[in-house]
Order: sequence, then structure tokens, then C-alpha cells
Amino acid sequence: KEIRRILAVESSCDETAAAIVVDGRKVLSNVISTQIPIHTLYGGVVPEIASRAHTERINQVIAQALKEADTDLDGVDAVAVTYGPGLVGALLVGVSAAKAIAYAKGLPLLGVHHIEGHISANYIENPDLEPPFLCLVVSGGHTHLVRVRDYGDYEILGMTRDDAAGEAFDKVARAIGLGYPGGPKVEREAREGNPDAIAFPRAHVNDGVYDFSFSGLKSAVLNYLNQMQMRGEAVNRADVAASFQKAVVGALVDHAEMAMEEFHLKKMAIAGGVASNGAFREAMQAACDRHGVKFYRPSPILCTDNAAMIGAAAYYDFARGAVSGWDLNAVPGLKL
Ligand code: KG4
Ligand code: ZN
Repeated sequence: KEIRRILAVESSCDETAAAIVVDGRKVLSNVISTQIPIHTLYGGVVPEIASRAHTERINQVIAQALKEADTDLDGVDAVAVTYGPGLVGALLVGVSAAKAIAYAKGLPLLGVHHIEGHISANYIENPDLEPPFLCLVVSGGHTHLVRVRDYGDYEILGMTRDDAAGEAFDKVARAIGLGYPGGPKVEREAREGNPDAIAFPRAHVNDGVYDFSFSGLKSAVLNYLNQMQMRGEAVNRADVAASFQKAVVGALVDHAEMAMEEFHLKKMAIAGGVASNGAFREAMQAACDRHGVKFYRPSPILCTDNAAMIGAAAYYDFARGAVSGWDLNAVPGLKL
């Protein structure tokens, strides 16, 4: 069997990452240089600072990925890179680096969609997983319920009409003084709180409509905090975190269950930064058990942004001969 080694690069937001992936499923190295400490000072990702930090780090991160895989550029068969969606300046750093390496070494260049990467993270630890399956992609920029019909063949069943779920976590975290990045901090705080303390509205589900909406829930949390402040009452931060998290998880799981019932697919996966949330993982496991559906979820480190997932997705493009041209460009609003 042919062995294909892909050098994958990811720089769409605030992680500079590179990985070596064999045949789409075996990860030889997965290096992630996070910019979280830099952006924490500003309470969120500052695009221009992200671009600059990627530029400063990308060569070192790629060198480290090759070293940890015990190889060099001569041991690589193709170069893959995220070309969208994301921050344009951040994406350009990865795209330029990948193009330069591929061109200099005469290697095929594979442009990868970031969301396809998140979905493909599920292949890495599950050698048995093959399409078709359902996947709920929940990150800082996206909340997509996707029907994966085949490798590279996706049907979006629903998506958020306003805020992404991760974005709601980040905004609520800021409002209750937890800071950036919000998701993990809200999760930690929620462990000390009562999820039934405050009845926040769960973005409700209409028959047959898979779209999400999280801005109403976010506003409900902000209104609650304002009212408490006006009354001079103390806010129990842990209760707010737990009640908010319960409402988000409830909406996500409702949609997933609706799709399981409609499509009768026996496999359901999750992906994206929010998929590392313990409460969400447990609720999805329980929902899948109720429906006799096998549940797939990547390890937390493969849920948040990384390059191994990009190498996994690129393998199937490579196998199909879907190679990018030298005119590959960063596309900030790229559609799946
Ligand atoms: O996939 P990702 O790393 O980047 C994007 O493509 O957006 O996702 C980052 C998002 C952030 O909004 C972050 O707050 C959220 O995922 N997140 C979490 C958790 N870890 C990260 N949300 C809830 N619970 C977590 N444990
Ligand atoms: Zn992401």
C-alpha cells in the first residue's frame, strides 16, 4: 500500500500549527504554538497581531513538526494548508509558507477548508470511521450541522443565523469577568454552579429547521446581569455559567437528535473547539445511546485548531487528485 506523508499547516486564527500525517490517519507530529497569552491582554484575538505572530513563528513550527516526525522536506509527499475561512492576514502566512515549500520542493499543494479539517479530526483516532455520517461542527466561528455524504462531499443541514456557539461562550465569559478564551473558563466555572439556577431560553427548534441562533441566549444572559446589578444583588457567576452552558448544550443536542431521527445514519461525530467541552460530550454521548447511534469525538487537543486535522482532510483530496494551483489564495469567507 502506498504511503503518503503530508506536511500540513494551519494559521487561520490564533494558533500557528504544523503536522506530519501519514495516509490521512496516522499523526507523526502535531505542533501547536498558541497565541492565547498575547491576545489575552486585549480580551480577544487582534487580527493584525495574529498575522505578525504567525509570521514570527511559522518557520520554527514547521521545522519542529518535521523534527518530531524524524524527517525532513525530502521525506514529504505533499504540502497541505488551510486557505479559509479565517482571518485573511493570518491565513496568508500559512498559505505563503506552504506554497513556498511546495514550489521549492516540487511537491503537490493542497488547499484545505478549515471546517473540513475540523470534521476530519474524527478520522485520526477512529480508523473505522468512514462516510456517511452526521457531524456537528461547533467552534468560535461556526455552528454547522453537516451530513458527510462522502469524503469531500458535504451537505449543510443547518447553521447559525447569528453568533456561533463558541462566540457565545466567549461573550458570556467576558460579561461575567472570566476573560479570553471564554469556553474553557466558562466550563471550569460551570462545574461549581447549578445548571437549573436560572432559566435561560434555549434557542428553540422548529420542525425540520436545523438552523441555530445563539444571540438571543447571549442577550438573555446580559439582561440578567444588568437586572441583578440594578437591584444591587450579587451574581452567582458559577450558576450563570452552568445555566448558560446547559442552554447551549441543550440546543446543540436537540438539533443533533432531530437529524439522527430524520436521516437514520448510525454514526454521529462532533468537531471544533466547543466539542472539547465535557458537558457537551456527555450530553451527546447520552443522546447517541438513546438512538442506538455510534458517537465519535476527537480528543480535546484535536478539537481546537491544529494542523493534524488539515493533514487528515488533505489526504482524501490528494487521493482524488484534487491538487491546488499556484494561484491558491487566502479566502476569508470560504464556503464549505
Ligand atoms: O475550533 P476553534 O479552536 O477555533 C475556531 O475555528 O473558531 O474553536 C475555538 C472556540 C472558542 O470560541 C472557544 O471559546 C471555544 O471554541 N471552546 C470551548 C471550549 N474550548 C474551546 N467552548 C466551550 N467549552 C470548552 N471547553
Ligand atoms: Zn477552528
